[in-house]
Formats: sequence, structure tokens, C-alpha cells
Amino acid sequence: MAHFIKGELTALGAEIELRELGKQEGTNVDLPPIVLGRYGNDPKKRNILVYGHYDVQPALVEDGWDTEPFQLVEKDGKLVGRGSTDDKGPVMGWINSIQAHQKAGIEFPVNLVMCFEGMEEYGSDGLDDLIRAEKDKFFKGVDATCICDNYWLGTSHPVLTYGIRGCSYYSVTVSGPSADLHSGIFGGMVSEPLIDLTHILSKLVSPQGKILIPGIMDMVVPLTPEEEKLYDDIKYSMDDLYAATGSKTNLFDTEKESLMARWRYPTLSLHGVEGAFSAPGAKTVIPAKVSGKFSIRTVPNITPRELDECVSKYVNTVWKELGSKNKMEIKLMHDGMWWLSSPDHWNFEAAKKATKAVWKVDPDFTREGGSIPVTLTFEEELKKNVLLLPMGRGDDGAHSINEKLDLINYINGVKTLSAYLHYAAVQPMAGA
Ligand code: BES
Ligand code: ZN
Repeated sequence: MAHFIKGELTALGAEIELRELGKQEGTNVDLPPIVLGRYGNDPKKRNILVYGHYDVQPALVEDGWDTEPFQLVEKDGKLVGRGSTDDKGPVMGWINSIQAHQKAGIEFPVNLVMCFEGMEEYGSDGLDDLIRAEKDKFFKGVDATCICDNYWLGTSHPVLTYGIRGCSYYSVTVSGPSADLHSGIFGGMVSEPLIDLTHILSKLVSPQGKILIPGIMDMVVPLTPEEEKLYDDIKYSMDDLYAATGSKTNLFDTEKESLMARWRYPTLSLHGVEGAFSAPGAKTVIPAKVSGKFSIRTVPNITPRELDECVSKYVNTVWKELGSKNKMEIKLMHDGMWWLSSPDHWNFEAAKKATKAVWKVDPDFTREGGSIPVTLTFEEELKKNVLLLPMGRGDDGAHSINEKLDLINYINGVKTLSAYLHYAAVQPMAGA
């Protein structure tokens, strides 16, 4: 993907460098390179930094896809395939914007500074360090940042996003016997790692979504009446949630409570168990070593470090109480900070005008529940405003099967990104 992007952009006349990052920590695997690019070098123009990621979540036809996930197909007005909306489609959008300007013979309005990475879905390994090292070099002179890696809330109304949650991802490993065992022979004679693990996992969160680890909720900033009021005007209905999840399995009955749970409160999700029997059939095995994976979405003012203290202390206490002779290890696999800004800035104003010009409506200003780890790093290191300008819709199925991007969102998305650059080029520089 990095080489593909380099090829496309080089052909369009951009200067591209692939920055190697060495090996992934604890492995012998090369990290995917970061694509650093610049299109235009006119000192009279503003420098707009755009960020996206070319890595995607895993996908197998067996997961339930109707089509081959890594073969892009056009179906019923939708582009279907892994990465269509998260985030290869939007990355293509920036490339298409340059192409469109060239084909239409329109001068590009800004110097486009580009940063496309390949480890976003694993916590953006290596990118924080690169941003810190390059803030006065490659990123020097950036006036504002635009990230296109989020979605509308629902399916019909555009949004601009000024906040996202952080994510701390954990593995908890329980091991005992030196190899998998026959459950008929050893069941009842030895402590089973998977039984111990499910005990721990069941103590992390209640089925109603309440986090059971002490100390985490105490770090959450209290809700003010002014903040609560913001939720009243958001165009989102329970039907959007039913449609996007294909179910009526909501934990809360109202839009406001649901959105608050997604935007401003921490949540804990269980993702899977590595090493456990998971194939079809009925294997009578006692797995020797199992790792449960869970993540916690973080919000203001939870810091990953304090969170980690709460998590390891609690899991170790639960483990001690269990009194098992197996071994347990709790490990933080990666973390990324939450980000909360304000849409009161010329960068957002430019995006608002662009959205209105293309979609003919004013966008809603929203926060989001997902995470883009480098958002805060860009803001803190470059000291310039960051804006999240989405291309896709809330029902695109990011990380799920049959991920799609509606063609109209792609086409209008490229128009919106382009219009944004034109407005950002001339918008009076007001705002924090
Ligand atoms: N595009 C998402 C981020 C996102 C999700 C924005 C939902 C708005 C709404 C991004 O590609 C993503 O999935 N990020 C990971 C990061 C994590 C591994 C640190 C995520 O949120 O799980
Ligand atoms: Zn993603």
C-alpha cells in the first residue's frame, strides 16, 4: 500500500518519501513505512497537513463477507471491500483531489503536506516519535491539520468531529499445563487456564456495560448542564443505532444516554480469546495457555498511566482471590490518548463551508467513540488546530463484514475535501 500510494502521488508530481520505522517491538517484523509527502511548495500558500492510514483490520470470507474482502466491488451504489471507508477510501480521496484539480486545470489552493501510516489499527506504532522528531523539519510551517478517518453519525447528515476517545488494549494470559490436555483424563484433576480466564474476564465489566474496575469512573470529568444541552440538537435516532447494528440490542433507551456512553464515558469491551478452541465441532481439550483480549476506551481526564495502574492492581487482586496454581500475566499491548477540542476555529469554519457547499446542509458538530491515536500528538506537537472531516456514513461497517462506502459519499467526499482546501486557503485565521 505504501508503495502504491507513493506511485500514485509521484505520478501526480508530489515529492514522496517512505520513512522506515525499524522492527515492531519484541518481534522481527518490519513496521510498515510512513508515507511522507508534499504537493506544492509555494510560500504564499497555506500548508495543510492531511493524515490517513492505509492499514486495515483483518478480514476473511469465512467471517461472513458476501464478497472477497480484498477485492473492491461496486454493488448497489456502494464500494464494498475491506478499507473502503476505514481508511483506504478517504486516503484515495486526497489523491483524487489532486487528480481532479489537474484534470480540470484548476490551481491547487494550498501546499498539501501528507502523512499516511500503516499501523493505525494497532495504535500507530512509531508515529508519535516520528512527529516529535520532524515537527521542526518535515512538519514545519503546517497551518492546520485535517484527518479524514471518521464517519457521519447516521446515514444522512454530515458531521464535523471535535473529540474522540482513547484506547488502551490489554491481554490477560493464563497458563498452566505444558501442553493442551485431554479433558476426559485430566479434567477435574488440574486447574484449567480457560476457566480461570473466564472468571477474570467476567469481573471486568457487567453485562449492562458497567466497568467493575475501581478508580476509572472517578477520573471522568463531570457532566455540566452546558455540555448536556449539546446533545439535544444532534441528529441521531435509536433507529440509526438499530440499523447500524442490525439489531435492537441497545443498552440505553434514549439517544442522549446512548451517545454519552459512546462519546464521554469510558467503556470496556471483550474482544476474544487467543489459544482457546474456536473451530466448529466439539473438541474435548483443555487448552494449556489462553490470552483474553480486552480494551478500554478512555475519555477526559483518564490518563493511560493511571488507568494501567487501576487495571493491573484490580486484575492482580482478582487473581489472588482466585488462589489458582496457574500463572497469570496482564499486559498493556498498546495505548492511545483521547482528544477533545473545540469547533470554534477557522479550520472547522472552512470544513463547515465545504460541507454546506457540497451537501447543502450545515454539518452537526460531534464527538466520537472510536480512536485515532495520533490526533492529540499532532495537536500538541505542531500546536495547530486539528479537524476530523469524515467521508463515510455511520452504517459503513468499519471493522465488520461487508464494509462499504456509498459511491455518493466517495464522490461528494472528494468534493468536500477539495472544497475544504479551497476555503482553508482563504479563511481568516480566527479561533484558538
Ligand atoms: N477510523 C477509526 C477511528 C474511528 C472509529 C473514528 C469510529 C470515529 C468513529 C480507526 O481506523 C480505528 O478503528 N482506530 C482504532 C484505534 C485503536 C486500535 C487504537 C480503534 O478505534 O479501534
Ligand atoms: Zn479502523
